[in-house]
Amino acid sequence: MISDSLQRALIAHLESWGLRRFTSDDAYFQWQRQLLSAQELSALHGHVERKRQGSAADEVAFYDATAHPRILPVLYSQRYDYYLTIGSLVASRIADAQTVLDFGCGVGILTTFYAKRFPHIRFVGVDRSAVSISQAQDKAKALGLENLRFDCREVAREPLPGRFDLVVATHALVQVEQDPGLPSRDWTTFERAHDVHQQSQFEERTGIGTRLDRLCAALSTPGRMIVFEKTRQLSRRVPFQRALTGRGLSLVEQPEPIRYRLVEEIADDGPFYLMKNEGRERLAWDESPEPDEGLPFNPSVTKPAAAGSDEPLYENHHASAQAAWQRLHNRSIVKETTKTETDGRQLHVEFGRSDEGRYLYCANTFDRRQLVIVEPARAAMLDAYYHEIAGG
Ligand SMILES: C[S@@+](CC[C@H](N)C(=O)[O-])C[C@H]1O[C@@H](n2cnc3c(N)ncnc32)[C@H](O)[C@@H]1O
Repeated sequence: MISDSLQRALIAHLESWGLRRFTSDDAYFQWQRQLLSAQELSALHGHVERKRQGSAADEVAFYDATAHPRILPVLYSQRYDYYLTIGSLVASRIADAQTVLDFGCGVGILTTFYAKRFPHIRFVGVDRSAVSISQAQDKAKALGLENLRFDCREVAREPLPGRFDLVVATHALVQVEQDPGLPSRDWTTFERAHDVHQQSQFEERTGIGTRLDRLCAALSTPGRMIVFEKTRQLSRRVPFQRALTGRGLSLVEQPEPIRYRLVEEIADDGPFYLMKNEGRERLAWDESPEPDEGLPFNPSVTKPAAAGSDEPLYENHHASAQAAWQRLHNRSIVKETTKTETDGRQLHVEFGRSDEGRYLYCANTFDRRQLVIVEPARAAMLDAYYHEIAGG
């Protein structure tokens, strides 16, 4: 679906912004030190730290500082693969729109690409960082883009300017990265209760409620919306999806989890959603955990560990550990603890026997699942882990 010519055009566009692709931290940081002074780097680290605290003012200060032409290419090069991946996914879904809003457009790296690629479409980029918007305006002027304008506004305070048949928000709706989301009903399940109060608290503390209301109000009928946020964790994905469905949005295509590179690190992000605000719902919203890389549970392949080795017979730290635990044969619990931790999450730890061996199982209401099986002779090791976890 994504053509080579689109990718090539995007690569050339990122180059025109001075962005470079790195796959090694050493090479990237060496380049960073060549381009920025120690003073600039220390100021930048200060902004990153303050942004982490989560106040809106600190976030705006961070985006204002990083929009500076000396900092911009250096910092945004870390997101090179993000731009390539998300820019391609969005651009390949834009062609039949007439008016597009890019909410939280930042310095306009992607907005200017879309506008250049689709001269027949009118684009508006909105952001609350004044320096980012001024940088975006300069770039649009330099590229001679007449189908694009940028507008500086805080959507928590004022509505969006106009109505659009496509609204795009990528990494702009759920900025509070440390918000854990919504807990499951209890440790035995991944299901979330339909609790209106919990949902509205999530939307309020992450700011996503107001932002989505504004975006929906700016969407023509019929209209489409593309969103891509840090909502890969089930506990965040569920309330995020409920916020979307609660506003009458339905899926046009199956949401796609996205993996991209941040220099050396691999980011598992998204999913990428394309939705519409009118018409019959065809696709169901999925509230179950993603298929994971947990070892398939097959008792016949659990082998005795080598003498002297601490290696377990079976180990799974993913959601699929729950199904493996349920399939243990002749499971009998030796000891178990279920407790509520200080942050409200419920934790269950269980040490027991089964035909497959001695096992330790851990589960909590934020989707942690862990199953370890060892030979009976190594039970003391699991017993020690049990007390460590149960004791907090
Ligand atoms: C991580 S950047 C993403 C930029 C761009 N969308 C991209 O994909 O690269 C998030 C942007 O959203 C903007 N933003 C966050 N909350 C906003 C709000 N309430 N009103 C306007 N802009 C906002 C921030 O200023 C920031 O520039």
